[in-house]
Formats: sequence, structure tokens, C-alpha cells
Amino acid sequence: MRNRRLAGENYSLSCMEFHACSRGITLSILDGKRILLGISGSIAAYKTAELARLLIGQGAEVQAVMTDAARRFITPMTLQALTGRTVRAELFDAAHEAAMGHIELARWAQRILIAPASAGFMARLAGGYANDLLTTLCLASPAPRLLAPAMNQGMWADASVRDNVTLLRQRGATFLGPDEGGQACGDNGLGRMLAPERIVDLLAVSFQPESWRGRRVMLTAGPTREAIDPVRYLSNHSSGKMGYAIASALRERGAEVVMVSGPVALSPPEGVRLIRVESAEQMYNAVIQGIHDCDVFIATAAVADYRPVKIHKKKTKKQGGEFTLRLTPNPDILRSVATLKNGPFTLGFAAETHDVTEYARAKLKDKQLDAIAANLVGGDQGGFARDENALTVIWPTGEQHLGMRDKRELAYRLLDVIEPLILESGKFMECRVKT
Ligand code: C5P
Repeated sequence: MRNRRLAGENYSLSCMEFHACSRGITLSILDGKRILLGISGSIAAYKTAELARLLIGQGAEVQAVMTDAARRFITPMTLQALTGRTVRAELFDAAHEAAMGHIELARWAQRILIAPASAGFMARLAGGYANDLLTTLCLASPAPRLLAPAMNQGMWADASVRDNVTLLRQRGATFLGPDEGGQACGDNGLGRMLAPERIVDLLAVSFQPESWRGRRVMLTAGPTREAIDPVRYLSNHSSGKMGYAIASALRERGAEVVMVSGPVALSPPEGVRLIRVESAEQMYNAVIQGIHDCDVFIATAAVADYRPVKIHKKKTKKQGGEFTLRLTPNPDILRSVATLKNGPFTLGFAAETHDVTEYARAKLKDKQLDAIAANLVGGDQGGFARDENALTVIWPTGEQHLGMRDKRELAYRLLDVIEPLILESGKFMECRVKT
């Protein structure tokens, strides 16, 4: 039997802190935070000037530390002017060591943000080489490390770089990016440094309290495939990007996440328990089996409404003329969970090509959901297979529009909106709250 916990006071801290107001001024969560901004050698270092400016604008204290190679791409003077602090670069610098020694600096930092992180720098960090000030600081500091890689797409794909990334991740480093797109060298692919604004957002996220710690969330993601015969199926254009972004944001905020996913070309976020399925029936069975001890259910999957009545054992042959396929309805997974007695908080999605909020409101009521996130799909809109999306979150007593943005960022904003709703619903299990 589920045992509900009422709203906990500490729970909404992240939203409150993020938007804490003082005399009408919105304070950033980065206000007063001590950031050691490491810069290694990559052409993307020119973007670090903007990054430093944004961080200072958010009220952070920024100490730039540059490698030798970084100083060939951007001058320390630029960083000094933007941060208001002398840039550190030398390990054996008598004057600086007398003022704030490198060990003191390592202790001062609340976060070490390396942007750009070059392939060479990551190799040295992975290898534990304390052969310059920046790597030495990384080894000496207990602060979490966030790396924004920047390099040629071929380098990023190289096996030695992949190994170093895996190793650094295993040791707790957080990777911010890289992004995909045109590169300074003329190539196109994965390896661009994330935009400074995005790095600032993700750095801010790293300071948010783990407001979902002790909560178990199940979500569905991606499309389903409904087999016609051994080689053909019915499906849709869902990429799974929204669901995977939400799973990742939930993990960042400390939730235990179980994701039941249809076939997608994405790797699951670290720490997420992934159950791979193909058909709607398999998705339904996996959800029903695991839902009993979940606090929240988020249905992002684009579940096929129908499946063929009969799955042919052998490949069906062309017959000439019209071909009729008899379909039967699939179980509605979301409705089944939402109507469970003592069930979890349920958030559904409504993807429509028109009249999206009207349909979503009707769905919210009809499926007895706690909230629904509506988005337009098709045409120039975001939605299916795109990196960007806009959502209108609707619940029985209100709604909030979240404008077009990267799905990864949208995921965090969506959590910000539903966190207070979940609290109000009281749909948390007492027995799941960890100390
Ligand atoms: O009814 P409709 O398919 O428009 O509802 C969309 C919402 O319901 C999505 O959240 C989707 O994941 C969920 N759904 C489901 N099982 C189905 C069909 C939709 O969970 N069979």
C-alpha cells in the first residue's frame, strides 16, 4: 500500500533559489559562487571571453586559469579585464604563490569549469599529469569538474579521446557538450564548444539542490513499432529526444529514473535504468510491472494507437491492387497509470498539428491526468525529431507556456513547473524518502 507524504518544505528550494527576489531584482543561483574558469588551447577560447562576461553578469566570482596553449588563442589581458582578477597561468609563480597559492586556489573554487577543454588537456587530466597550473589545480581541488570540450570532429571521434572522456566521466566529471555543427576548420560534426549561454545554464543547474533525491520516476520515451510481419512495422517520427532530455534532467536533480523506451538512436543518460521495448504492448507491460513504487509517471512516448490484428510469421508478398491491414487499438498506457488507485503523479504529452491547447485540455480531463504538456508538431514547429521545442503545460487550475528552446533546457524548465504541482498533489511515497 502506498503511503503518501505531504509537501516537504525543503523541496521547492531549487525553484525558489533560482528566482529568489530581493527588492524586485531576480538573483541568479550563480550569485556569489566561486568559479575557477580553466581555459585550454582551442580556437573556441575566443568564446570564453563572452562566457566570463556572462558569469560575472550573474554575480559569480571568476578566476581564470590559462594553459600555455590557451594564451596563444586569447590574451590573459582580455580575461583579466572581464573578470577583474589577474589571470593565473604559471605553476611556479613566486608572486602569486605568495598571495594565493595554488592549493589555496584549489580550495577556493566551488566549481572548476574548463571551457574550452581541448583533447590534449583532457588527456593530461585523465592521465593525472600535474604538469601545469590548470591540471594541478584540477587534481588538488575537491570541487566538481565541468568540461566543455572543443575540438575537430575527427578528434572527438578518435578512440583515445573517447576513452579519456569515459574515464573522466567515471571519475565524476560532467561534460557540457560538445555541440554539433560547422567548425572553424571547415568540418561539420560533433566537437563545437557549447554556446556560452548554454554553459552558464548548465553550470547553474550544477548548483541546484538535488530536489528530486529519493523520488522514483518512470517515464516512457520514443516511438513504438507495431510489427506487420518480420520485416515491416507501423511507427512514427518520434526521436525520443524530449524524453531522454527529461530523464537526464531528473537524474541531475537526484531522481531515481526508470525509462521505458521504444527504439531510438540515443544513448541513455548516465544512471538511468533503461528498459528497451519495441511495441506498445511491451511498453504497457513494462510500465505496469514497475509503476507500483513510482512517485511520478511521465509519458513522453509517441505510442502507436493501433497495431495489426495479425502479425504475419513470414514476409507478406506483393499482391497487386489494394492491400487492407486490419488494426486493433493498443492499450492506453498513460490512462491506465492515471486511473490506478493511489497511483503516481501523472504528466502526459499532447502532440498535435492544430488546436493543441484545446485538445490537451480535453485529454487532461478525459485521461484524468495531473498535468499535460502540449506541443505543436509538423510544419516549422519544433516537436518530433527536432532539437528545439515549445510546450504549454496545463493542469486543472492553471497553465504555463514555455517558449521555443533547446529540448535539454526545456526539460529543466518543465521540471521547474511540475515540481510545485507534485508537491501540492502530495503524491510522494513516504517510504521512498531517503535521508
Ligand atoms: O491520446 P493521445 O495519444 O493523444 O495521448 C498522448 C499521451 O498519451 C502521451 O503522453 C502518450 O505518451 C500517452 N499514450 C500512452 N499510450 C497510448 C497512447 C498514448 O501512454 N496507447
